Amino acid sequence: MDRSLKRYGDWALVTGASSGIGRAMAERFCKDGLNCVLVSNEQAPLEQAAKAMAEKHRVRTIACVCDLSTPGVLETIRKSTKGIAIDVLVNCASFGVLGPFYKTPLATYLEGINVSVVSYLTLTYEFLKPMLDRDRGAVILVSSVNAFAPVGYSAVYTAEKAFELYFGEALWKELRDKKSKVDMLTICASATKTNFQARAGTRTAPWAWEPEEAVKVALRKLGKRPSVTLSWRGKAFQHVTRLLPRSLAVRVATWAITSTLLKHRGE
Ligand SMILES: NC(=O)c1ccc[n+]([C@@H]2O[C@H](COP(=O)([O-])OP(=O)(O)OC[C@H]3O[C@@H](n4cnc5c(N)ncnc54)[C@H](OP(=O)(O)O)[C@@H]3O)[C@@H](O)[C@H]2O)c1
Repeated sequence: MDRSLKRYGDWALVTGASSGIGRAMAERFCKDGLNCVLVSNEQAPLEQAAKAMAEKHRVRTIACVCDLSTPGVLETIRKSTKGIAIDVLVNCASFGVLGPFYKTPLATYLEGINVSVVSYLTLTYEFLKPMLDRDRGAVILVSSVNAFAPVGYSAVYTAEKAFELYFGEALWKELRDKKSKVDMLTICASATKTNFQARAGTRTAPWAWEPEEAVKVALRKLGKRPSVTLSWRGKAFQHVTRLLPRSLAVRVATWAITSTLLKHRGE
């Protein structure tokens, strides 16, 4: 059976493609021969990534500079994808906020919800329908193990990630009911060595995965399951929090995910 991602078509679109998991994801699609629209916020790293991938893998890449937290996202992305059929959509752009609820301004939370919830929904709504019409393609949502239980001191980010997991798995069921050939996968990533921790003002766990490893393991499950949990720690967290009574699950989840990170910041 052909496991090359080229089986999905000619063009992928990846948000958050300038760094971390999104960049590794875009690189993997290019390596398998797909052209790629790379979307993120900052022009210089995005254009550098797009150029490097095009040269290395001899494919076409388009750098689409777009602040996914602002209105007009679709207009910008439609301009960059004019005349192109997107066969694979990867929603990956996101950022985390860690700390007591009132230490972060409301505007930052709203920005996060626009990037993680609104853009994931908007782009899936835009690009899934043509894939269904062609009966070919894939939609990937990058979520987190945070989605498995409420995590204190990360309340909004955790809720965003839970939205992505429920949204992705529910759509997977609708696609299976239609006997669609479009694949859908939600990735519940564990700690990964990216820019995520620096932006959240915290440290990277020593056992964190390389983004390329996360992408490799996750993509093996594309077309096979609704979601995939990366790392044995992530799987243990998923099962333990599911089995515990809710009040205990929230305590354990908060301890497991935030205690050492907050201690590292002296909080
Ligand atoms: N790293 C981890 O430990 C970890 C663990 C679990 C889940 N995840 C998930 O993995 C995904 C990728 O994160 P990462 O770890 O690869 O982090 P990262 O290296 O910080 O990458 C985040 C990407 O999102 C983009 N982005 C952020 N805000 C944006 C905005 N307003 N508009 C457009 N693009 C924006 C960034 O682009 P700019 O730099 O241009 O803003 C960057 O390309 C996220 O969904 C995250 O929740 C990560």
